[in-house]
Amino acid sequence: MNTPVEGFSKLTKTQKIDWIANNCTKDPKGTKQVLEQYWNMDPRVQKLHDEFIENTISNYYLPFAIAPNFKINGEIFAIPMAIEESSVVAAASKAAKFWLERGGFKAEIIGTEKVGQVHFIYKGGTERLSNFFISAKPELLKSVATITQSMEKRGGGINTIELRDLTDKIDGYYQLHCTFETLDAMGANFINSCLEQFAKTLKEQALLFEAFSEEEKNIEVVMSILSNYVPDCLVKAEVSCPIADLGNADMPAEAFAEKFVQAVNIAKVEPYRAVTHNKGIMNGIDAVVLATGNDFRAVEAGIHAYAAKDGQYSSLSHAKIEDGIFRFWIEVPLALGTVGGLTTLHPLVKLALEILQNPSAKQLMQIVAVAGLAQNFAAVRSLVTTGIQKGHMKMHLLNMLNQLGATEEEKRKMVKHFKDETVTNASVKEALERIKSK
Ligand code: MEV
Repeated sequence: MNTPVEGFSKLTKTQKIDWIANNCTKDPKGTKQVLEQYWNMDPRVQKLHDEFIENTISNYYLPFAIAPNFKINGEIFAIPMAIEESSVVAAASKAAKFWLERGGFKAEIIGTEKVGQVHFIYKGGTERLSNFFISAKPELLKSVATITQSMEKRGGGINTIELRDLTDKIDGYYQLHCTFETLDAMGANFINSCLEQFAKTLKEQALLFEAFSEEEKNIEVVMSILSNYVPDCLVKAEVSCPIADLGNADMPAEAFAEKFVQAVNIAKVEPYRAVTHNKGIMNGIDAVVLATGNDFRAVEAGIHAYAAKDGQYSSLSHAKIEDGIFRFWIEVPLALGTVGGLTTLHPLVKLALEILQNPSAKQLMQIVAVAGLAQNFAAVRSLVTTGIQKGHMKMHLLNMLNQLGATEEEKRKMVKHFKDETVTNASVKEALERIKSK
């Protein structure tokens, strides 16, 4: 392919597929077959997916799985997860079961405040801008009344609007730094609509502010957008138990607890380890965020910023031993929604929320944080005991066998064979050849 395409978005779906198949692949017929294989049988469901984004030519499947037996604040949940990595759901389920027998997870909401900013340039006296802001604030709020009306009726809306002076960073740079309560909605559309209206009103009011010079009246809005950094939309999840209850076949309880705390402490001070440690947490968080139709990119960006809030990237989870009790907990910012967005549109997202008993956004924050903590527990537990490859490769075995073209019967035999054997690429190949030659 060496020529650009004109007006691709205006082509029909069939024309788009033809163009891609003929211009970007070696086997156009095979390409079309693969794309069609992933279409939904129900044309209405397919149309829904076609319309989520532009230029849809097929669907991209991820496994949708359940990690059962999560006891959270005394209630039992089966948690839906969408993820491709072989060992994640198995690890989550194992951790859920482990803590089910030890009192379960506790989770609490620390805050639900979201943030948005109008970034603007003002060349003039700071005190005059402050006076202008005080006088314009009621107009700013009035101008968004129609947008905020229904949110306010339900108890949400705009919490604060603050003028921030950032001229020490960029000449003339100020912000309206605003905070919001968006209840069960993730709130991106609500926040961005309010901010864009604030920006408009700010410019209009500046033109009318008599104390401003002509130059000062000319406020230049650079952009208005929510922030995905939400350190005050925060949830904590925790597990604890007497050290003696941590009994593990691979290691005595006390040694395990100490090694576990050490591993978490290493992730606190060592960014190379912290990133991988937190990646393990995100295995759980992203899988539930995705299954429930939330924006995992926003969640990822916000969480990693939070992990670096003290100036160095660090562990999101913490562990300690106190008076014979092992405590392990996590604090993560999570801006999630259980209404709006994909939640009512995507049939599997709707189902995932139903499986979770149609949680509020606050409840979903708790469930997601627990999934992250459980995943982290499972990973660190393996790391400090058996090593990660044992469980991981076992779960990966079926992928390897599929890649090697094993039949169902061969797969069954191989799974049995590797129950007590170490799974490696070479050992799987060798064992499969042996079974095939029999
Ligand atoms: C793999 O997806 C995640 C782990 O690397 C996490 C960790 O090292 O803590 C196992």
